[in-house]
Amino acid sequence: MTRLALFPEVAELRHAKHEIESQFLNRWSPRSFQEKPVPETLLHRVLEAARWAPSGNNLQPWRFIVASTPDRLRAFHTFINPSNLTWCAKAPVLILVLSKTTTDKGTPARTHAFDAGAAWGYLALEAVHLGLVSHAMGGFDQEAARTTLQIPEDYAMHAVVALGYRGPADALPPERQAAERPSTRRPIEESIVDFSV
Ligand SMILES: Cc1cc2nc3c(=O)[nH]c(=O)nc-3n(C[C@H](O)[C@H](O)[C@H](O)COP(=O)(O)O)c2cc1C
Repeated sequence: MTRLALFPEVAELRHAKHEIESQFLNRWSPRSFQEKPVPETLLHRVLEAARWAPSGNNLQPWRFIVASTPDRLRAFHTFINPSNLTWCAKAPVLILVLSKTTTDKGTPARTHAFDAGAAWGYLALEAVHLGLVSHAMGGFDQEAARTTLQIPEDYAMHAVVALGYRGPADALPPERQAAERPSTRRPIEESIVDFSV
């Protein structure tokens, strides 16, 4: 695979201390989306990437409810928080990421959330390679989503992911425009901990 160049604003704002593949820096979460559909082949490709995530006992507990038709998108819009809807209403694809909390034997699937997180990460990275952007949202009404989409009780909801083509920052509501840039991270040393010392 050819190595992606860093996107210009990413090169300006994100600096990895140690060398890593550019995909990790190029993935960020814009809020401005073009009203342009995502071809089905590309949608298949991001979901295929998620499929190959690792999971405890290879249970693959992740599930994806995909909205890409006007009716389905409208249904999703009913349970997304108004503050998120101000920007994600234009996204051509919304994906609710869920995980099955129990095994086929009815025992708890202890790593379901961790596994679903890995799957979403894979999806988001594949999107970068396809010229797409993704933005996860935890800000939605889970109870309303469960009712609207008839989600059984043994499935946990994690995030709604907006997927599509990046739009211009000035198409966002004014209060959102300043944040339309790649964020940075705290130093890695602050994440590597040892509570025993
Ligand atoms: C599980 C999850 C929930 C999130 N919820 C929201 C949300 O409700 N609204 C929003 O605007 N961004 C949301 N975000 C986006 C984060 O704020 C964003 O990923 C974080 O600030 C890091 O920025 P980056 O993704 O551009 O690197 C969420 C991200 C994740 C992974």
